[in-house]
Amino acid sequence: MSPKSDPRPVRIAPSLLAADFTHLAQSLASIESEADLLHLDIMDGQFVPNFSFGFSLLAALRPLTRLHFDVHLMIREPERYIEDFAAAGAQTITVHVETCPHICRTLEQIRATGARAGVTLNPGTSLAQLDAVLELADQVLIMSVNPGFGGQHYLPAATGRIRRLRERIDALGLSLPIEVDGGITTGTAPIAAAAGADILVAGSAVFGSPDPGAAIRALRAACRPS
Ligand code: DX5
Ligand code: ZN
Repeated sequence: MSPKSDPRPVRIAPSLLAADFTHLAQSLASIESEADLLHLDIMDGQFVPNFSFGFSLLAALRPLTRLHFDVHLMIREPERYIEDFAAAGAQTITVHVETCPHICRTLEQIRATGARAGVTLNPGTSLAQLDAVLELADQVLIMSVNPGFGGQHYLPAATGRIRRLRERIDALGLSLPIEVDGGITTGTAPIAAAAGADILVAGSAVFGSPDPGAAIRALRAACRPS
């Protein structure tokens, strides 16, 4: 299948992790009119070998933007903090199956706050882990890098995982968006989109550009059928 043969419009979610932390208000302003969502990566130095920021930063940023806060929790025991993230303005909260022994309960806990419930898994975790929860989730995230850092290369095996998940979701008759996160560039974006991605997270490709708005347009254009 040609990478440009998929007619579904793709949404772009810039990841704040790659922004200049000394000028976050300007970073938000630079994407406000072009981005579809704002991806916020929360890292605890335990589940992943890096720290980022917490819900107090989200609360501080919330009045500065109208963008949907798409929060990716890479933390142990995420159920302890879901209400805090929701109160800070998170509108989608995604948890890793590896961190949730009671994933069904955790997804219900997210929905009870009014946020959309997302579920994700590491590149080394079997897609079968999602089977029991597809009908309980509002969004599924496929990691195309091992989580913990921005600026990594897209793992080619992610493409087959996106495609297999798309087939599974379609076979179940669900309308679950698939988000893809890690190593998204104008080269990999059309590959992920053609495989069935609806939302592409992009950190370095957006905030590493001198013109983040133009970078978002370039990612979207790369995925557009010719
Ligand atoms: C990785 C994060 C990603 C990261 C993407 O653990 O979940 O969201 O910020 O960054 P890039 O687009 O630079 O790979
Ligand atoms: Zn992320």
